[in-house]
Amino acid sequence: MSCLRAIGNTIHYDTVIVLGQFSGTTAVRIAASVEAEIRDGHLPPGAQLPPIRALATELGVSPMTVASAYREVGRRGLVVAAGRRGTRVADRPPLPVRTRIFVPQGTRDLATGNPDAELLPSLADALGRIDTSRRLALEEGKLPALVELAAERFAADGITTSGVAVVGGALDGIERALLAHLRPGDRVAVEDAGFVRAYDLVRPLGLDLEPFRLDDLGPRPDELDRALERGARAVILTPRAQNPTGAAIDAKRARELRDLLTAREDVLVIEDDHADGVAGSPAFTVCDPGRPNWATVRSVSKSLGPDLRVALLAGDATTLSRVEGRQLIGPGWVSRILQQIVVTFWSDPAARELLAQAERTYTARRVRLLHELTERGIRAHGRSGLNVWIPVRDESAAVAALLQRGWAVTGLERWRLRSEAAIRITTATLDVEEAGPLADDVAAALETRAGTYSA
Ligand SMILES: Cc1ncc(COP(=O)(O)O)c(C=O)c1O
Repeated sequence: MSCLRAIGNTIHYDTVIVLGQFSGTTAVRIAASVEAEIRDGHLPPGAQLPPIRALATELGVSPMTVASAYREVGRRGLVVAAGRRGTRVADRPPLPVRTRIFVPQGTRDLATGNPDAELLPSLADALGRIDTSRRLALEEGKLPALVELAAERFAADGITTSGVAVVGGALDGIERALLAHLRPGDRVAVEDAGFVRAYDLVRPLGLDLEPFRLDDLGPRPDELDRALERGARAVILTPRAQNPTGAAIDAKRARELRDLLTAREDVLVIEDDHADGVAGSPAFTVCDPGRPNWATVRSVSKSLGPDLRVALLAGDATTLSRVEGRQLIGPGWVSRILQQIVVTFWSDPAARELLAQAERTYTARRVRLLHELTERGIRAHGRSGLNVWIPVRDESAAVAALLQRGWAVTGLERWRLRSEAAIRITTATLDVEEAGPLADDVAAALETRAGTYSA
């Protein structure tokens, strides 16, 4: 049994693991037993695997056999090699197990990263207005009205697309774009710090992560250049509302990145515009009109609600046709009921005003917390979106100290590859009146072992 400690939303597992729970004398059998332990919930997301040598001794096999078993489960995205921190179970292993976000009762949840339910437009109203007659499979999968509205919205932001695909959320779109171009063993440049679910999406596809660093204006050109020099065949970047840092690309940075990427037309560029509509920052694209190999995915998860599972994908003709062709022989299309709901929200002036109001509210909440933190000498970031990012010396200590004061926030151990330790505070539901007391508690928490880098 692993020894479990819960700190904030992060579940920690001491590395004391009874080795007897693993079995097998071949790499295939050992890999199967690791998979079974994960599937059965004995090894939850984030749990540490035993050191290779210890397990080899226990099972009476060579360390190479265990290393080969770990490589196999790593290839399938079940576990992640974390350098000196050993090997641990992925945050989202591709098995039907769930990451447990642990928010103790009575604690203010600023960890789960969702939009504010109070700021989402009413689904009941939209459902009352859509055509619910049964649709047949052979009809057009995409709603022309949705495609038209999406194309207008892309065009308004200078994104010239040869069409629009409708996919089941941002991550679905990203996965489909990657599969349209890449092969196992290819490298993908990813943001560091970055969205942990994107990391966990890429690994089981057999793709290797090549991290690049950010600043408040998004990907640093020198860093992205280096990642591409190291052979990355694709890049996934978040143009605004970057999760967890809140970075947002401005016009100048977009130009710099576009220049860099135009010189590398063979690289697939994927823009994850997951918070379109509520990002609190304008959209800039790094893809030149006419560029081959690109996709911009816009999800409605943050603006209209994560349960809609709808995103719109712009791109070049080849990428679009591959994505749509593959989708057609799999799920076929995204439910037209859901597509109609999006059309209803996007075309109703009252719903549009509500969304604009939601965006202003998110911005006010984030900006207020940043202001209060800066006043207390704490270096914090969050140019856009629903999160504030604070570098700290010790993530677990910071999360624990804030939890003691009644705030559940996210420690970012798993959200970074080489970048510094940090915590994420989701401000989506943070009342502006709470920002001062929260900033006091952050200041107090960071005076402990958690530490901080001053402003
Ligand atoms: C950067 C980023 N991309 C994608 C998503 C998820 O989008 P979707 O629900 O459309 O898959 C999130 C959700 O928080 C996110 O933070």
